[in-house]
Amino acid sequence: MIHPQAAATGHELIPRVIVLDVRHESMKNFSYLVVDPGSLQAVIVDPAWEIDKIDRALADTKATLRGILVTHSHPDHIDLAKPLAEKYDCPIWMSKAEIVASGFSARQLAGIDMRPWPVGQMLIEPIFTPGHTPGCMCYLIGENLFTGDVLFAEGCGICPDTQAAYAMFASLDQLKTRLEPHTRIFPGHSYGQPPGRPMSQLRRENIYLQFSDKESFAAFRLRSGQDRARLFKFS
Ligand SMILES: [Fe+2]
Repeated sequence: MIHPQAAATGHELIPRVIVLDVRHESMKNFSYLVVDPGSLQAVIVDPAWEIDKIDRALADTKATLRGILVTHSHPDHIDLAKPLAEKYDCPIWMSKAEIVASGFSARQLAGIDMRPWPVGQMLIEPIFTPGHTPGCMCYLIGENLFTGDVLFAEGCGICPDTQAAYAMFASLDQLKTRLEPHTRIFPGHSYGQPPGRPMSQLRRENIYLQFSDKESFAAFRLRSGQDRARLFKFS
């Protein structure tokens, strides 16, 4: 979606997504720098582990960091939120529900709900997607959706119990309804697929998007032997 201001000026703005594969010991995450090519203002999604890589991406793109988008409060998604907020004097955006559930605090923390807001000429559209945690938020920027641990190309995030799995089912259902087939999905982790696959591919191939009722989804999501975090890869 083009921000109304952009449409009014006649500029076609396509946010640039820079994929940062970052690691710490056995953890492998994707952080994403999203740059508005018109204003060179940028946001970073779920910054973790390798601050030098993030600094270098900002320098390479000549972008100014305007804020930190956090999908949820797990340590591998907020690892560098506070240091970056201090260094670049910018807000940390997290859902109000996640702040309440996690107790996360920071001087620059800004609780958000579902209202979109602009950064440069990009529009940040939060989509509330609880299940993996009570306050998970996905962020739609243009035709790119940043999903954290809600939706992977090959699966979805772990849910702690049946009620959480029901919430995850509803969250995934919402994404199936709301997203365009060409929306590109940028997850926090991968089991092998490169980030940026279109939703249409996930609709065909991701087994967690094939369920039509919450009970069978929850039974499958909560089956034993599903702590696969150590199997995360970079494609
Ligand atoms: Fe997580």
